[in-house]
Amino acid sequence: MGVMDGKVALVTGAGRGIGREVALAMAAAGARVVVNDLGGTIGSDTTDENPARQVTEEIAAAGGEAVASNDSVSDPDGAAAMVQAAVDGFGRLDAVVNVAGILRDAMFHKMELAQWQAVLDVHLNGTYLVSRAAMDRFRAQESGAFVQFTSTSALNGNIGQANYAAAKFGIVGLSRVIAMEGQRFGVRSNAVAPFAWTRMIEAIPVQSEAQADAFEKFRTGATAAQVAPLVVYLASDAASAVSGQIFGVRGNEIYLMSQPRPVRTLHNGDGWTPDALAGMLEPALRQDLYDLRGTGEFYGWDPI
Ligand SMILES: NC(=O)c1ccc[n+]([C@@H]2O[C@H](COP(=O)([O-])OP(=O)(O)OC[C@H]3O[C@@H](n4cnc5c(N)ncnc54)[C@H](O)[C@@H]3O)[C@@H](O)[C@H]2O)c1
Repeated sequence: MGVMDGKVALVTGAGRGIGREVALAMAAAGARVVVNDLGGTIGSDTTDENPARQVTEEIAAAGGEAVASNDSVSDPDGAAAMVQAAVDGFGRLDAVVNVAGILRDAMFHKMELAQWQAVLDVHLNGTYLVSRAAMDRFRAQESGAFVQFTSTSALNGNIGQANYAAAKFGIVGLSRVIAMEGQRFGVRSNAVAPFAWTRMIEAIPVQSEAQADAFEKFRTGATAAQVAPLVVYLASDAASAVSGQIFGVRGNEIYLMSQPRPVRTLHNGDGWTPDALAGMLEPALRQDLYDLRGTGEFYGWDPI
């Protein structure tokens, strides 16, 4: 018996890296799986149907059931087709895991519109399109779980990744509102910020010694396979009381991440002027203003 027995899961970006491990773990937990991946390369638009097919073959070899999809998550028809593949292949859909991703890193002052749009298209628009395609079905059946992929590059920040941070923060907002709206009809959504040594991380330009140290730690201590159990759990009914949350996972550590709340208030009964704020705001809030450390500086200890 597994936590996904009888369930059907769609995993995007499942031909490689974390998505592949999630698809394999879904099948091991009893799910029938739509393995979506257009088989993209990190830096170009070349595609390859082999990665998704190979993962379905691995699932079948282990005694599970899976179908491959090579559609792009950023194509509205493709997103609809992957949901339909679950229904055609297995008669239902219970969980959607939006893992598909690309990077087009550049310092913001050098970032081209094409780099901005490519990343927004796959991460934010892709997550929207696949989630939206599944939502009608989830709402009608009054059940369904989304696991959306975010990043500490957004939650904490990372130099050279303004496009990616914008997309991944957008996904957090999307996940939160899907969770709020979905609670009336049994639909959940959670966001996961993973750490795992994959080709995507190898492609990130190292900007500082602290970042180089952090990368070396998770090259040796944080695998894609270690991300999968949390994702499968969140997709399953075992997590029925967990929605609208943001989790981090690195090695065998799982983090519940904070979400913005007001931390201090400034009030002036006469109303504020820019001049009044100039004298008051920064000195009054100095102790609580956030510094500009990035993701590489928050996780200094070895993953365990
Ligand atoms: N690896 C990490 O430490 C890390 C950290 C933070 C966030 N993430 C996020 O985790 C997810 C997985 O990353 P990964 O490290 O496994 O990367 P990866 O490059 O190994 O895998 C991403 C997969 O997505 C597929 N893909 C790309 N564009 C697609 C599209 N339009 N439609 C369908 N499939 C598409 C690729 O072909 C690839 O197989 C991504 O969303 C990434 O942003 C990863």
